[in-house]
Amino acid sequence: MTRRADIYRLFNPSNHESGANRLRFFEVLVNLIGIVSVSAGTLHEMSTSARSLAALVTGIVASLFLAEYLLRLWFAPEIPHPSTLTTAQARLRWALSPTGVIDLLAMIPALAVASGEARLGAESASVFVLLWVLKLATGAPGVALIARVLHNQRSALGAVAALFAIVLFSSATIAHWLEAETQPQFFGSIPSSLWWAVVTLTTTGYGDVVPQSPVGRLLGGVVMLFGISVLALLAGILANGFADEVRRREFIRIWDLVAKVHFFSNVGAIAVADIVGQLRSRSFSAGQTVISKGEAGDAMYFLVSGSVRVQIGARTEILHEGAFFGEMALLERKPRSADVVTLTPCTTLVLDVADFYRLAGMQPGLIAAIEVEAKRRRAKDNESGTQ
Ligand code: CMP
Repeated sequence: MTRRADIYRLFNPSNHESGANRLRFFEVLVNLIGIVSVSAGTLHEMSTSARSLAALVTGIVASLFLAEYLLRLWFAPEIPHPSTLTTAQARLRWALSPTGVIDLLAMIPALAVASGEARLGAESASVFVLLWVLKLATGAPGVALIARVLHNQRSALGAVAALFAIVLFSSATIAHWLEAETQPQFFGSIPSSLWWAVVTLTTTGYGDVVPQSPVGRLLGGVVMLFGISVLALLAGILANGFADEVRRREFIRIWDLVAKVHFFSNVGAIAVADIVGQLRSRSFSAGQTVISKGEAGDAMYFLVSGSVRVQIGARTEILHEGAFFGEMALLERKPRSADVVTLTPCTTLVLDVADFYRLAGMQPGLIAAIEVEAKRRRAKDNESGTQ
């Protein structure tokens, strides 16, 4: 791998290795420090020296953003892109993407500092707060999730927006017919009636504009009921969209982890898809007890990375990534036969007991393969007289 690819890997948002996580934490910290220092600069009661310190910190943060922008521009060709693009085109593609544009705007303060405009008025510097909050938002995983949900649900959201617009304009028009004579200042035209319609339809109800005629009030009641239904529909669409997207992401994440477990390499894609839905990931630090001898078996584990020590009486077995453990108690319906302690930090995939039995019904071949290994282990343990 080239140095450029190595650095991109470190900045890649889907990389969750400790180095990448640390770098992300540092980026967020610098961003927050920048926001705090610019915000502090707008405090009128600050002394001159404190103000200069805030300006210095702002300058340092902005310079770091400048360096980061240049670095991102440099490794932009490593970001997956159509193979027809040249290196320069790949860089331009990133520079014109929303992230590229926001990163460019975020480093403007650095350019201002470099061009001798360091003593910007605190008020004009406050615009950086907005830019840096925006930069913080582009890196936040939740923002990408929201954007994805809105994109996936765009047709349903469009239908709700259309419904909202229909009710809004028809209620504003009817309110105008009914109330224009008595309250011309609020309902004299359809555009001015729209304010009342929006406030009523969103169930905000400031109470500044109220229909006076009985039919107008009846209309108000109907619009409120419509408003509640439309908002409930909107909440339902978004909640469903979020749940779907989170499930989809979790599936992909577990799918990637499953690919690292040797045991699943001979299992067909359909069987793997079945098991992926039942697994969840769990990490352990070194020296942690995962299974204690004599306990009831509540789950089995597949080792994605790391090593564990199995203590069977006085005998020890070491299991490495790709292996599984905790299957014997589930298959034999007996208490745990050994202690299992992590030797290194471990990532595991956990299959809970209920899902294990459900899977046994769906994928008997898979469980049979686990059973073969369990029998071999049991025979070995019996042989050595540790059980
Ligand atoms: P279980 O009995 O549920 O909990 C302890 C686990 O240690 C056991 O399942 C097996 O997964 C594992 N184990 C027991 N004996 C051996 C062995 N001889 N080799 C490897 N792993 C074992």
